[in-house]
Amino acid sequence: MQPKTPSDSRTIMTDMVLPSETNPLNNLFGGELLARMDRAASIAARRHSRRITVTASVNHVAFNRSVPLGSVVTVEAKISRTFRTSMEVYIDVWMEDRFSGESTKANEAIYTFVAVDETGKPTEVPPIIPETALESERFEGALRRKQLSLVLAGKMKPNDATELRALFMKE
Ligand SMILES: CC(C)(COP(=O)(O)OP(=O)(O)OC[C@H]1O[C@@H](n2cnc3c(N)ncnc32)[C@H](O)[C@@H]1OP(=O)(O)O)[C@@H](O)C(=O)NCCC(=O)NCCS
Repeated sequence: MQPKTPSDSRTIMTDMVLPSETNPLNNLFGGELLARMDRAASIAARRHSRRITVTASVNHVAFNRSVPLGSVVTVEAKISRTFRTSMEVYIDVWMEDRFSGESTKANEAIYTFVAVDETGKPTEVPPIIPETALESERFEGALRRKQLSLVLAGKMKPNDATELRALFMKE
């Protein structure tokens, strides 16, 4: 299969925060942001694989900053690494200041998607070649994150998570 780059899957979704999407503090409800991230990640996974893709795991979410009512929110998703049938998707969330127009990073997340055929059976995806320093850094850490996710899901024995264990053996 022809390799692709993370920018081939780059997906950007910009939308506003409406009153029905907020919590009692008038900030964006976490579940609403999770749904927006899932949607962008799904499109990125589809762009990379050109297959039906399903969310296999939400590996990490950090709600570092609250997002106030009326904010313009941009969700950017890119494939950071592929394995045989699964893809790690890295999602960065940006918030645009209403007055200055300046964008600041609000949150980030990492999801795992799997490409499947019409019967739901996992199917192979193209490899990926990172281009930028940040893409290389994310590519590098993805195997450890996959192993951690599989261990937590009870799908891999901790002893078999070689790269993840090596992280804790370092001085
Ligand atoms: C995701 C799904 C296709 C995996 O099926 P499976 O029978 O476990 O298939 P496999 O064991 O072959 O796993 C497929 C790939 O997913 C990876 N995977 C499975 N569970 C994972 C997890 N929790 N974390 C990270 N990767 C995972 C496997 O490592 C494998 O990756 P690889 O082929 O790139 O090495 C299946 O569990 C499924 O359809 N789940 C429901 C998906 C869905 O409906 N999502 C929306 C939720 S509402």
